[in-house]
Amino acid sequence: MVQCVARPILISPSVLPADFSRLGEEVAALEQAGVDLIQWDVMDGQFVPNLTFGPDVIASARSHTSVPFEAHLMVLNPDELAHRYVEAGCSRLIVHVEACMHLHRTLAHINDLGATAAVALNPATPASAIEHVLDLVDLVLVMTVNPGFGGQKYIATMEPKIREVRAMIEDSGRGDDIHLEVDGGIGPGTIAGAAAAGANVLIAGTALYRHPDGLAAAVSELRALATSAVG
Ligand code: DX5
Repeated sequence: MVQCVARPILISPSVLPADFSRLGEEVAALEQAGVDLIQWDVMDGQFVPNLTFGPDVIASARSHTSVPFEAHLMVLNPDELAHRYVEAGCSRLIVHVEACMHLHRTLAHINDLGATAAVALNPATPASAIEHVLDLVDLVLVMTVNPGFGGQKYIATMEPKIREVRAMIEDSGRGDDIHLEVDGGIGPGTIAGAAAAGANVLIAGTALYRHPDGLAAAVSELRALATSAVG
């Protein structure tokens, strides 16, 4: 059993399932529903086989909510795009280990832009890949699906990696400063396992938007399940 997660449980939507013709209203509804932050899944059609939000789309939604935005940059060239997403109103940028030729430099660049930097690991990438950059991030994202699409099945074999990353964060001495986020297939049947393994930021798209009682009920149900899983 991983030691108790030092960080608070945070629930964040992926807006992939939202109605893109009403994004302003959609982010306002997410704030009303009680989300802690909003994650924008940015996809370039090269790093992943899908194409989503440019910075101008995110900027158009910024004024409709006061909830923090983070950009999950599933893109091949995060160094060139980072400043655009900070200017669009994202306070955290998440880059993939697999997309960065010089990960340490990219994370330092994001910090220099005034945003907080975060790093994501695809399912096949070992936790050791982030061993030497924990001093540059405030969040590590362990993907529990292969990136590119919502509605995929949770990969439960990622739970040992979540535990390993949680232990690395605690051993770094920055357990109170670094969040551990999971993304992909998070719902009522999977969130407890991810939280018990050490995740404290939980991204959900399908589970939020498909909940029969609406967004607010989904957010509070997921928060309650994650909170009780960490004791
Ligand atoms: C994958 C995406 C999805 C999304 C969440 O690239 O990042 O994981 O955010 O999708 P659901 O919650 O529907 O699995």
